[in-house]
Amino acid sequence: MPNHLIQAGILGVGSYVPERILTNKELEQMVDTSDEWITTRTGIRERRIADPAVSTSDLAVRASRKALEHAGVKPEELDLIILTTCSKDMPLPAGACLVQTELGAPQAGAFDLEAGCSGFVYGLTIASQFIATGAMKRILVIGAEVLSRIINWQDRNTCVLFGDGAGAVVVGPVAPGEGILASKLSAEGAGWEHLYIPAGGAKMPADPVTVEKKLHYVHMNGKEVFRYATRVMEEESIHLIKAANLRLEDIDLLIPHQANIRIIEHAARKLKLPMEKVVVNLDRYGNTSSASIPLALDEAVKSGRVKAGDNIVMVAFGAGLTSGGIVLKWSKGEGESNET
Ligand SMILES: CC(C)(COP(=O)(O)OP(=O)(O)OC[C@H]1O[C@@H](n2cnc3c(N)ncnc32)[C@H](O)[C@@H]1OP(=O)(O)O)[C@@H](O)C(=O)NCCC(=O)NCCS
Repeated sequence: MPNHLIQAGILGVGSYVPERILTNKELEQMVDTSDEWITTRTGIRERRIADPAVSTSDLAVRASRKALEHAGVKPEELDLIILTTCSKDMPLPAGACLVQTELGAPQAGAFDLEAGCSGFVYGLTIASQFIATGAMKRILVIGAEVLSRIINWQDRNTCVLFGDGAGAVVVGPVAPGEGILASKLSAEGAGWEHLYIPAGGAKMPADPVTVEKKLHYVHMNGKEVFRYATRVMEEESIHLIKAANLRLEDIDLLIPHQANIRIIEHAARKLKLPMEKVVVNLDRYGNTSSASIPLALDEAVKSGRVKAGDNIVMVAFGAGLTSGGIVLKWSKGEGESNET
């Protein structure tokens, strides 16, 4: 191991969403809701839904292939695969292992990470530590979800909010002063019952009664989650920007978790950031949980919104309750010259 820490950054990014679009108008036919309610209360207009034969690991593989190509990294060069998800293919084994074999990355370790919608920033933070110590050189961090399988399509409180999709990044060494400048992981476990799936685990194994009562679907106290989200998005961002030795005016782009436009606008107001500096795509995808930030990052990068040297804040909240974020200076590709 080197006797100094190595700077970790994103070498490539990719995403994938299913083709099928479910609009608010279609939802009007399914539950007692309206396009007007969903749009004004959440900002969501449509979301993507995976075909029945497609699972979370399938979406993860597709996003990963694009990220690897963008990074110019071969699957067999990967040291580790971290799949962040709360809608894994099956309870056992880790979906990351299915991704590992499908990609053809035989020497990579593989595990799943569950931190609700904060999963991606948790995964990226963990990956950066292995890069920093020199223990690993190429790590794939994926956020992938097929949430349409774990929500109750008769519950208007939740079913209008979520969508399916995946985003992935390849993490590796970058030049000093670039890449991940600060990160923070937080949790307030006391709020776990505000967003959870009661049945299907060891505490309440699924049986005909739990299925009948729809306890294997997401249950949410929307008001409590909203209150938590507006508080931590501001607190985490301010902490992170300070920890990175930056000022609010140094931030070029905020990539927040895409749950509700009102939560995002509240954070932007508190951080005095004009909405032009905020990436928003929830109108097209809804809340894709741990996929939302890498999906938004990929769109921002591929559309030319992200430039070398930009200071980017990624901040998330989710089930747990968890929150966290990352500040990074974009340096795509510059890690190549920094390799030994
Ligand atoms: C869920 C959420 C959009 C609800 O918005 P809100 O403005 O807080 O709405 P309220 O909870 O005050 O509900 C207002 C009314 O709308 C109703 N309502 C809820 N969902 C509805 C829907 N899809 N269509 C129509 N009406 C709906 C409620 O039943 C309630 O009716 P009532 O007053 O007769 O009881 C909002 O609380 C939210 O975004 N919370 C955070 C959720 C989240 O981000 N979860 C994921 C975390 S990663």
